[in-house]
Amino acid sequence: DAPVRVAIAGCGVVGGGLLARLLVDPRFQVVGVLVRDPRKARDVDAPVNLFTSDREALLNQKPDLLLEALSEGGAGHDLIRCALERGIDVASANKQAISRDPAGLAALAQASGARLAYSAAVGGGAPMIETLRAARAAGPVAGFEAVLNGTVNFMLGRLEAGADFADALADARVAGFAEEDPSSDLEGRDSAAKVRLLAFEAFGETPAEADVPCDVLSDAFVVSGPVRQIGACHRVDGALKSSVRLDGALSDPLFARLRGERNALKVYGEDGRVWSCKGRGAGRWPTTESVLSDVADIVRARHAVLGHH
Ligand code: NDP
Ligand code: HSE
Repeated sequence: DAPVRVAIAGCGVVGGGLLARLLVDPRFQVVGVLVRDPRKARDVDAPVNLFTSDREALLNQKPDLLLEALSEGGAGHDLIRCALERGIDVASANKQAISRDPAGLAALAQASGARLAYSAAVGGGAPMIETLRAARAAGPVAGFEAVLNGTVNFMLGRLEAGADFADALADARVAGFAEEDPSSDLEGRDSAAKVRLLAFEAFGETPAEADVPCDVLSDAFVVSGPVRQIGACHRVDGALKSSVRLDGALSDPLFARLRGERNALKVYGEDGRVWSCKGRGAGRWPTTESVLSDVADIVRARHAVLGHH
């Protein structure tokens, strides 16, 4: 079989992990890597002529598959749309891009016959989208609660142990957990995007950004015991109620015992059944593996279609 032609968007924590893995895998040919600055030094050894800052030049390489890991929501969303319109399959880690309009992107993918996957956009290496889909397939969902941000969970653990706020944040950035602009983590916007995306999976509706109030983790926040940032969405009297709260009253051991950058999800079915999962919520390799599991699914589906014809 000819190798699958892959374009990668972003070459930071996640895109760099993907590039490193695919360059040594003969089943794939990396045809281009979209970045802001093609001349910047990278921590992955790759031919310089792969890098471009020109979106059209990337798509003109006629990739079969786009792996989208940009740090900007708007640019990611536009790129995904352009790729899907051309029938290019997409796997994205970018929750800010997907959560803008998951229904619109799904419709676009369906219309063009392209596949769209975004397992890594919520929960990093924890299979949250998959868990929610399994719960929804079993019956109506009443709601969900989750620890959705690795940076904040890591920092809360460090703060509880007495660390300085700035040191805890610096360590989260060095570890590759934090967003390029970490205010997105600290102000709850990263988790709110994940709540909105999970709500789409659970209820087929995406709450407006303004309808997900968020608590802010700042150096003024006093951590005197275990605290978790909990993203939640429940259907109450027919309407969705969503929030991202810093919660010190932890009754659930799944959340109370969650260490470091780990994430966890609990889904409640209307019939009383509960589904849960946990895993590494951030960082290069767990996230890379999660995108690559989407890639495996997409390649399998492509082969099924090609074999069928
Ligand atoms: P980084 O900041 O490490 O890398 C972002 C990359 O995007 C850089 O290579 C940057 O180019 C490129 N980029 C950003 N905007 C543009 C643009 N407009 N045009 C071209 N290139 C652009 O981010 P991460 O790898 O950490 O995260 C990438 C995505 O994955 C984000 O959406 C994030 O939320 C998501 N994610 C991250 C996880 C993590 O643990 N880090 C886990 C799960 C999801 P340049 O290098 O030239 O500046
Ligand atoms: N900044 C995010 C986090 C990356 O810390 O959870 C994973 O989405």
